[in-house]
Amino acid sequence: MTHENFMHRCFDLARLGAGHVSPNPMVGSVLVHEGRIIGEGWHKEYGKAHAEVNCIAAVREEDRHLIEKSTLYVSLEPCCFHGKTPPCTNLILRSNIKEVVISCLDETPAVRGKGVEILRKAGIEVIEGVLADAPFKPSDFRNTYITKQRPFIQLKFAQSADGYMGVPGKQVWFSNHFSQLLAHKGRAEFDAILVGTNTALTDNPSLSNRFWPGKSPLRIVLDRERQVLNDAHLLRSDQPTWVVCEKQLGSDFTTDSLRFLELGFDEHLLEKLLAELFHHRITSLVVEGGATTIRHFMEKGFWDEAAMINNSLRLGSGIPAPTPTGDELASFALEGDTLTVIRNQQPKPLNFV
Ligand SMILES: NC(=O)c1ccc[n+]([C@@H]2O[C@H](COP(=O)([O-])OP(=O)(O)OC[C@H]3O[C@@H](n4cnc5c(N)ncnc54)[C@H](OP(=O)(O)O)[C@@H]3O)[C@@H](O)[C@H]2O)c1
Repeated sequence: MTHENFMHRCFDLARLGAGHVSPNPMVGSVLVHEGRIIGEGWHKEYGKAHAEVNCIAAVREEDRHLIEKSTLYVSLEPCCFHGKTPPCTNLILRSNIKEVVISCLDETPAVRGKGVEILRKAGIEVIEGVLADAPFKPSDFRNTYITKQRPFIQLKFAQSADGYMGVPGKQVWFSNHFSQLLAHKGRAEFDAILVGTNTALTDNPSLSNRFWPGKSPLRIVLDRERQVLNDAHLLRSDQPTWVVCEKQLGSDFTTDSLRFLELGFDEHLLEKLLAELFHHRITSLVVEGGATTIRHFMEKGFWDEAAMINNSLRLGSGIPAPTPTGDELASFALEGDTLTVIRNQQPKPLNFV
């Protein structure tokens, strides 16, 4: 077993906290003695115990004497300050652990590198950067939120074999069972999901998570002139929803979960919206189309990752799919479809607030 194998396990554990820990990061941890995992833990709930604490607490009584001879793997640098919980670096020192392996530094200003420094000064060997370039890293949301002052943004869409995203005014189904499950898994993990006006009008999506355990995200629809009807799926349930519009236009249709966010639809619309999301501590956003909306995000550089599903269907004509360029992080089969993940090489921070 390699450092990478154990870090993958940390990533899997970290994701069990998806939907429960934001705006904190998802973090997973394993304690390994001579190739055997003797403890596992993850950050389960915002404000509650961190992954390292749960990992060490999970070690069985008969293995506790092995703790100080074990290597601690953590998907994110251990914290070193008193927040809602005590510093994890104290726990590591108290436990006499001699080796710590991490994937990424924690970009939170009170931590960034200081956690590692404290451990090294105490004589602990710290190995950094394991799986630091992996796709879908659990720390991506938090670190992007802190460094870019906006949510981590994923552009997600499906395209036909001949490069179209759809047909104007007509709903086209691209998803198979696996891509649908993956989309709903994303809805459980991301804080928010956004679509443009035409997608809301053409597809009447509900943007809820129905096929994966966990919560549904905050829904956001760009609807300058309030064209989306009050009985549209997007506006119907209790799921929190923001309608971004220029004027509420005298609509008396509101529910507890529905918010009309009035913003000027000028060239800074996305900056204003992302600032509002940052202010509401939304650390992750998936933009699920359509093509025009995705292009607006691409033109501004406001995207971190694109998840594109390539379908074998041929449409002949229609709405051309966007072509995000960057590093290909992963490509894998989803039944007959292919999912390709691209990372933006130059994601832009939000510098307009
Ligand atoms: N294959 C897939 O994965 C997928 C996913 C989603 C949708 N679709 C398909 O895509 C089609 C819709 O795509 P589309 O490109 O026509 O439309 P769209 O992106 O859904 O909506 C475009 C409209 O949203 C508003 N908008 C979006 N971004 C804006 C910005 N930054 N600033 C101001 N306004 C903004 C504008 O409305 P105003 O012009 O009114 O201001 C714009 O015309 C549908 O047929 C749908 O079925 C496919």
